Amino acid sequence: MKPKIKTELPGPKSTVIVNKIKKLNIAYSDPYPYVHSRKGKGCYFKDLDGNVFLDFASQIASNPLGYNNRELNKVVKSYKKYPVKYAGQDFNVKEHADLLEELLTITPKNLDRAFLVNSGAEAVENCLKLAMRKQKKAKLGISFEHSFHGRTLGALSYTHSKPIHKQSFFSLSNKVLPFTEDAEDKLKKIIKQNGASSIAFVLMEAIQGEGGYNVAPEKLVKDIRKITKQYCIPFIIDEVQSGMGRTGKWWAHQHFNVYPDIMSSAKALQVGAAIASKKFSLESGSISSTWGGGHTLDLAVGLKTIQIIKKQNLLRNVTIMGNHLKKHLYDLKNENLINIRGKGLMLAFDLPNKKTRNNLIIECLKNGLVILGCGEKGIRLIPPYIISEKEICQAIEILELAIKKVAKPRFRHTGKICNYLTCGESHT
Ligand SMILES: Cc1ncc(COP(=O)(O)O)c(C=O)c1O
Repeated sequence: MKPKIKTELPGPKSTVIVNKIKKLNIAYSDPYPYVHSRKGKGCYFKDLDGNVFLDFASQIASNPLGYNNRELNKVVKSYKKYPVKYAGQDFNVKEHADLLEELLTITPKNLDRAFLVNSGAEAVENCLKLAMRKQKKAKLGISFEHSFHGRTLGALSYTHSKPIHKQSFFSLSNKVLPFTEDAEDKLKKIIKQNGASSIAFVLMEAIQGEGGYNVAPEKLVKDIRKITKQYCIPFIIDEVQSGMGRTGKWWAHQHFNVYPDIMSSAKALQVGAAIASKKFSLESGSISSTWGGGHTLDLAVGLKTIQIIKKQNLLRNVTIMGNHLKKHLYDLKNENLINIRGKGLMLAFDLPNKKTRNNLIIECLKNGLVILGCGEKGIRLIPPYIISEKEICQAIEILELAIKKVAKPRFRHTGKICNYLTCGESHT
């Protein structure tokens, strides 16, 4: 397949649906100018108007195996009877047991229990609760500049990537550390001033997602792990975006040779999970969720996803193709493409400013390549794990021409697409 755009974006069929969502959604947040048709294969999908796109956004890292994977389609087809969703923490389904068991084969060995919920934010939220229950005298939690942990109020309290996320929403008590090697001194100061027992947890993304795909300096991760261990403060790693193999290892923190006490997962897992060791177990009734552990189809797709990644050794492909993509980006030698970073297929680069970044997303889209923003002026490149060299070459070709075009001093988009210029600004 090849990316091929036949209509103005959005095309006529997509426009009808986009306009309906725009009118009725109370918090419409500039989605992309097309509507998925469920057609496509691998890294390509078709919209309702027959346009073919090459996907380097992977439904914000939640579609690791691409479109119409044969084995996943078989799983989906087997769920024909209603209900598909059960109240899974109170009423048992086999899929709950199966996913827990499979998930715990890929978690670090000290993390041997999990609690399944619906989303990434809920996964983080429940990780915080596991830590809080252990630290009975705690009054505050600690997180990092530019972090993104989700939109529920607990997770949002520890999110610091963009002011718009928090405007007029109250926060839980928190202190913020720099995402640099200076964090160690600041954490020590907080401990000295407040006492270690007042701290419920330190929450970190080893590779930040929405906040800019910033890879933590190795010393930062190691220092924080050392101090949290020394003072028995639960160290939570948020792997909602970076986990499940996206960086070439099952979990991004494994690039730093540390073990968290608690970890979140979601997105590519298809459901949310708070993962920890048995010692964080809670008494019945402490945490729950109607659909947690009961969305049978999602649980079955999550299970099969892990099995396919294992069977096809896709972590290897992620590493090899990630290196390949990164090399291509460097080889472009374009002065407007700066700060190339990331691991595996969790890659990003910056443009000189936000306007050029947004223009680039649109220009790529007009040529059939879907990419996604992050941070202030960054672009994420997060194709499915099955990406091939040929597809990377197609993407680079589109990217190269698009960067040259949007970098021209008086560059402006024209037409209907101008209503969508901020569609690629990241939201999660
Ligand atoms: C690191 C991280 N944590 C938590 C979340 C929240 O996940 P969700 O949007 O599924 O609630 C996200 C979402 O992008 C994320 O990237």
